[in-house]
Parts: sequence; structure tokens; C-alpha cells
Amino acid sequence: MSETTSECIFSMDDVSFVIGDNQILTNISFKLDNSGITGIIGPSGSGKSTLLRLLNKLISPTVGTVTFNGNNITDISSSELRKQIGMVQQRPYLFAGDVQHNLLYGPRIWNIEYSDDKLLQLLKRVALDADFLDRNIDGLSGGEQQRVSLARTLANEPCAILLDEPTSALDIVSEEIIENTLKQLAKEGVKVVVVTHSLEQTKRLVDELLFLKDGQLVEKTTTKEFFSLYNDEEIRTFFKQKEE
Ligand SMILES: Nc1ncnc2c1ncn2[C@@H]1O[C@H](COP(=O)(O)OP(=O)(O)OP(=O)(O)O)[C@@H](O)[C@H]1O
Ligand SMILES: [Mg+2]
Repeated sequence: MSETTSECIFSMDDVSFVIGDNQILTNISFKLDNSGITGIIGPSGSGKSTLLRLLNKLISPTVGTVTFNGNNITDISSSELRKQIGMVQQRPYLFAGDVQHNLLYGPRIWNIEYSDDKLLQLLKRVALDADFLDRNIDGLSGGEQQRVSLARTLANEPCAILLDEPTSALDIVSEEIIENTLKQLAKEGVKVVVVTHSLEQTKRLVDELLFLKDGQLVEKTTTKEFFSLYNDEEIRTFFKQKEE
């Protein structure tokens, strides 16, 4: 893992998240202050998506504090956070209209007009052809929507991106392109946080990981150390549901 300090630093201090009687996350504390790719892993229902959503204030903790670059995120406006933190959710939400409209939307808020060339570069980074620019969102497959969602996020040039199972609906060729894009972004200094169900993807992509179980943070460690701490069978149970 790179030892360089990231300019986009997330932390949680004793965070719990409760809905009704349902304790979803319990006393979570960590600091992500290295550049590189952080993975959030754990069985289905362990709280991975909830944790990711807390990091950019889509939801707020019941108890505890989430900070971004040392500031409590309740003190940062949502629009400022959205500018700096990109997010690709498990079920992508796209604006009605065509792909081009989706890609141009964010930059236009900041009065930036993208050239056709730049739009095509964005599509290339997410393994989509140029003819996708004019395609309507309604006609796209789940995997294509995920990739448009990532391209739209990249159009804002965020300093961090949060991705929830970004390649779950992709074939292996597209998956490899997306993984290479994420590695390249990490090299460029973008902080990448990715939820994944895949053991193999974790090995290929992730530098350090947070391992959640039953809403608790069980390990925060480098990927290398994680695979030396547990035996194969234990690790397979941590990744159960979507086994490769
Ligand atoms: N808005 C909500 N209302 C009630 N329960 C919720 C809500 N959001 C999440 N949960 C519950 O919290 C738990 C954790 O959900 P979460 O989506 O964070 O899990 P996950 O680890 O991302 O699972 P998966 O791997 O299946 O995507 C689950 O039991 C889920 O049913
Ligand atoms: Mg999830």
C-alpha cells in the first residue's frame, strides 16, 4: 500500500446507526488516511452500503461523528461534499434523458462545459463506446447504467469516489477495464473506497480493507495481512453469498 497521505481523509468516531429497533452499525471507528484503494467487505446485510452512505451524508449517524478532512460532515454543505466526493451506488440513480445529459450535468453546475473529446475519454474510462453518448438511459442494461454512473461521477473530478459493488453486473472484460480505471485514479491521488462481495476482486484491487460483520468493524488491515490472518474457509464464509 502507498504510504502517501491522501488529501481526502475520511474518519468515523464511534458511529452507530439505528433504524427503529434495528441496530445496523455499532460503534464503528476508523481513519482512512492513506491514498490507494480501500475495500469494504463482509457478508450480505453486514452494513457495507450503510457505511458507505454515511461517508457522504446520504444518511446521518444515530450516534458518533463522521469527518471529512478533519471536519464534521454535518458542518459541510451537501453540495460541497458532492463536489468533492463522487458516489456510485449499488442501484445507480441516473437523470432522465441521454447519457450525454448525465455526463454534462455536474460540470454545468460549476459552469464547466466539456468538449466532445473529453466526453469520449470519460466513456472510454468506463468501457463504453462513443455511440452511447446519445443513448437514452431507459434503454441501458444494469451494467451500462453502473458505468454511466461512474463516468458521471468522474466528470466532476472528485478527490474521492465511493463505489458500491461497481462491477457486480459486468462481464469480465468490462470489469477489468473498470478495475484498471480505479487503479489509475488511485495512482492519480483520488481516494477510492469500494464495497465488494468478491474475494478475487479484493485480491486484485484492494490495498487495505474494512471487514464488517453483523454491523461491527472486525478488522481494518492491509489486504495482504488479512489473507494471512484467516484461513481459506474462514475467508470464504466472510464473502459468502456471491462466491466466485
Ligand atoms: N432503510 C432501512 N430500513 C430498515 N433496515 C435497513 C435499512 N437500510 C438497511 N437496513 C438493514 O440493515 C442491514 C445492513 O444493510 P446494508 O444494505 O448496509 O448491508 P450490505 O452489507 O450492503 O448488504 P449487501 O451485501 O446485501 O448489499 C440489513 O439487514 C438491511 O436490511
Ligand atoms: Mg449493499
